[in-house]
Amino acid sequence: MSALLIDGKARAAALRAEVATGVAAFVAARGRAPGLTVVLVGDDPASAVYVGAKGKACLEVGMISAEHRLPAETAQADLLALIGRLNSDPAVDGILVQMPLPKHIDSDRVIAAIDPGKDVDGFHPVNAGRLAIGQPALVPCTPSGCLLLIREALGDISGAEAVVIGRSSIVGKPMAALLTAASATVTIAHSRTRDLAGHVARADIVVAAVGIPAMVQGHWIKPGACVIDVGINRIALPDGKTRLVGDVDFAAARERAGWITPVPGGVGPMTIACLLANTLSAAQARS
Ligand code: GUN
Repeated sequence: MSALLIDGKARAAALRAEVATGVAAFVAARGRAPGLTVVLVGDDPASAVYVGAKGKACLEVGMISAEHRLPAETAQADLLALIGRLNSDPAVDGILVQMPLPKHIDSDRVIAAIDPGKDVDGFHPVNAGRLAIGQPALVPCTPSGCLLLIREALGDISGAEAVVIGRSSIVGKPMAALLTAASATVTIAHSRTRDLAGHVARADIVVAAVGIPAMVQGHWIKPGACVIDVGINRIALPDGKTRLVGDVDFAAARERAGWITPVPGGVGPMTIACLLANTLSAAQARS
């Protein structure tokens, strides 16, 4: 048996179209478009590419996109002052500070300075806490996107066994909270987990978010399971070229899984689409 591929590009395109419809309704009702402001500190080339992609995606759904590109040596106090201004700017519905920040800046401090109602990354402790206790929250984009893909494959996941591999605040922990809210039975596995293979073998849903190429072996997968691969690892090939691979040994896992996300083209495209959805929600929630 070969797993069905979960098409993240197609699901992301459908979500973007839904957001565009919501944006048009928002403009008709409020007389202005929702606005996302992205702050980039320093000149990391990968971050610059992400920030450019986020701005372009905003414009495509009819939102207003603004960018603040600050030099790497920007003082933390100046960044906090900018966030203060964006918090009180009525045209700004969403604020995203691109990570990682330069080492001299305390990212926890910066995240905590963002108005939780404008925290479209869902990284603020208030949003993380709300998600943890089942209250409405802005939810981190990558796990939101994963849940949409799981629902696309499986529909109702009530009672399903789920294993989330990785316990980061950005993916693993919020993913576990979302799966729990959807009534799955959730295990969080991590670098100290004993018998990871045993946990994975029982799982109807596997979400891998560890950042280690092909760490999840294909023969661990329960036949028919839904496998969501969050990993984006660039590996060197013998011919000197590079290739993107996930955290799951895709070729082997595909032979056992019922559904699997490819890398690239699985989870990746969902993240920006969910950011747009969060920005629209943030705008709608403001009076
Ligand atoms: N850097 C890599 N991914 C992300 C993300 O989702 N949000 C932010 N703010 N920075 C990132």
